[in-house]
Amino acid sequence: MLDPFALKNHQVWRPNQRFLPLILQHKNEKTLNFSAETTLMHIRPIGNDFVAEITNIDLRLPLTAEQIQTIDHAMDQYAVVVFPKQELDDDQEVAFARSLGPLEETRAVVDVHKQRLAYNQMNDISNLDVDGSILAADDRRRMFNLGNSLWHSDSSFKATPAKYSMLHARVIPPEGGNTEFADMRAAWDRLPAKTKAQIEPLVCDHSLIYSRAQLGFDAFNEQELLNYAPVPQRLVRKHPGSGRKSVYLASHIGLVHGMPRPEGMILIRDLIEEATRREFVYSHVWSQFDLVMWDNRCTMHRARPYDDKIYKRDMRRMTLTDSAPTLEQPL
Ligand SMILES: [Fe+2]
Repeated sequence: MLDPFALKNHQVWRPNQRFLPLILQHKNEKTLNFSAETTLMHIRPIGNDFVAEITNIDLRLPLTAEQIQTIDHAMDQYAVVVFPKQELDDDQEVAFARSLGPLEETRAVVDVHKQRLAYNQMNDISNLDVDGSILAADDRRRMFNLGNSLWHSDSSFKATPAKYSMLHARVIPPEGGNTEFADMRAAWDRLPAKTKAQIEPLVCDHSLIYSRAQLGFDAFNEQELLNYAPVPQRLVRKHPGSGRKSVYLASHIGLVHGMPRPEGMILIRDLIEEATRREFVYSHVWSQFDLVMWDNRCTMHRARPYDDKIYKRDMRRMTLTDSAPTLEQPL
């Protein structure tokens, strides 16, 4: 067996696989000086060609600069990474997220006065009330959260949207509740040249109000309507880490600039249907203490149902913010 300590720079040991340089070569790539600890991080593709599992790393401990760089490179090459068996508490999950970049400082919720989690930056992806009991079927927060079952990219409704999301499973139901992912770079690659030319210059308005309206939820108060006013985003963007183009789709889209609204929305619906064809979707079946991280700049995801009136599900999400609004980013 090859000695993993003998690997050259920017190679990572993947068990049961031949050695491949995992990391894409970057223009300004510095020589990396991996520690033994970093070299032993295992990265293994597990689903479609954009999902990997990373093991042999303890996310409770502070990460080295080399480990962070390796994780970023893995995110660039894939787009979704799964870290199994990470028994983190809130402080550790927040510290891990902070080590990867600037955080989103606010969460997008309704009923801000009824929040269960202490950290403002932590999104409560659960069916639980502040006292830990299961939310009533007609609770406004439950109905609002059902919007996560529509295909979306996190925080595309914010002027500066999200970079990575990381979702940690504390309590999971015995069945159901998968999270599904689709790669929007591959979706771009598959489009006919004519469609690419048509959509490349387009700009769309995104809002939580639009996605919730699709499910018949329109009970926003005045403050929420102000908070969730639509923001413009490019429909096609360039993913900086891989250099690949990506279709920036989400159910939060409610208007395509320069088009009558129904014409724009049928275009978006067709693009989402094509991008999320079954054979291109990775469905993550959760185990307790999985931490799944995805790049919102080049993926969409959606929650799948479970019996949320009977079983508790407690997931907690940290989110990194992107560098700028998409219209200010180079294409
Ligand atoms: Fe989400």
